[in-house]
Amino acid sequence: MVYFDNAATTFPKPDEVYDAIMKSMKEYGANPGRSGHKLALRMGREIYETRELLAKLFNIDNPMNVVFTSNCTESLNLAIKGILQRGDHVITSSMEHNSILRPLSSLEKEGVELTIVKGDRKGRIDAKDIAKNIKNNTKLIAITHVSNLTGTIMPIEEIGKLAWKNGIFFLVDAAQSAGVYDIDVKKMNIDMLAFPGHKGLLGPQGTGGLYVREGIALKEIKQGGTGSLSHMLEQPDIFPDRYESGTLNGPGIVGLGAGIKYIMKTGIENIRKHEEELTKHFIEGISKIDKVKAYGPLNVEEQGAVVSINIGDEDSSEISYILDEKYDIEVRPGLHCAPLAHKTIGTFEQGVVRFSFGPFNTHEEIDYALKAIFEISREI
Ligand code: ALA
Repeated sequence: MVYFDNAATTFPKPDEVYDAIMKSMKEYGANPGRSGHKLALRMGREIYETRELLAKLFNIDNPMNVVFTSNCTESLNLAIKGILQRGDHVITSSMEHNSILRPLSSLEKEGVELTIVKGDRKGRIDAKDIAKNIKNNTKLIAITHVSNLTGTIMPIEEIGKLAWKNGIFFLVDAAQSAGVYDIDVKKMNIDMLAFPGHKGLLGPQGTGGLYVREGIALKEIKQGGTGSLSHMLEQPDIFPDRYESGTLNGPGIVGLGAGIKYIMKTGIENIRKHEEELTKHFIEGISKIDKVKAYGPLNVEEQGAVVSINIGDEDSSEISYILDEKYDIEVRPGLHCAPLAHKTIGTFEQGVVRFSFGPFNTHEEIDYALKAIFEISREI
């Protein structure tokens, strides 16, 4: 089997991740932060270690500014709904995933003003278009780092500068970049960074997080037990407890920590280089096959390890079905939860067949997929 659906979730994970999850469940699977017994303290320490690893990876001063969530969508909901109020203006782009577009569209109905800056046919966003749309009441700019449809890398450092100069909060969706691309929240002026645990960070599904810059008081989107200030009926006002009601996914967070340790041991630059080489190899190969329509920049300087294609006018789901059934190649077809991005690149009707590569893919697998695409293109 060849797994090329790493943009949806990376698979497999490093063995260290499986081992850490199993060990945490078997040896110290208690509830952190509720009791003072040894097992609860151990779980609490292991979870804190993952906060520290995330802080180190993203150059965050205080690990307590990392909030754990169950996925990147929850992180984005917390950031967006926690900061925007009726009368505020927010700028985003047409290349966003529904995890940004749907919360914003829901807030628009409640009186938040929304501007969607359009990308070009390769999915590129120009920071100047964002600058042109800044108004007196612009409170937030929310942009993805890497498109989940075209892989396009957005100019987040430039947008961060723009946001900082204008006193606007800057939220980055790192769903497709965390663990592969360098992210420095200070250098990039990122106020809030939403990330999944189960993609480039190599942790299990059900993990994710949000970094919130010191001094930003987001409204929480859920209330409940935090293990702290238990005498109060109101939600505690302390980080990260205010945003972490309910029992955390302890084993998952421990697994996420093991994923980050694997990245640090391997070197994020080595993972990125490997994925760039695979992407380059794939792009070169598909460009030689007649009938293949490929989208996005088609250049590893400008895109992550995500390449979307179609074969002629054939339905993208049909192609994916053949790849799975006949060749055991796993990809994602159709619309990729990013309807405006599909409109931007012109694939709203046909969808795309998306190939996304991870650290454990090989060049032999790329050659095999290219052969499969060539054969399918001859048959349809
Ligand atoms: N957002 C994930 C994807 O693009 C699930 O497939």
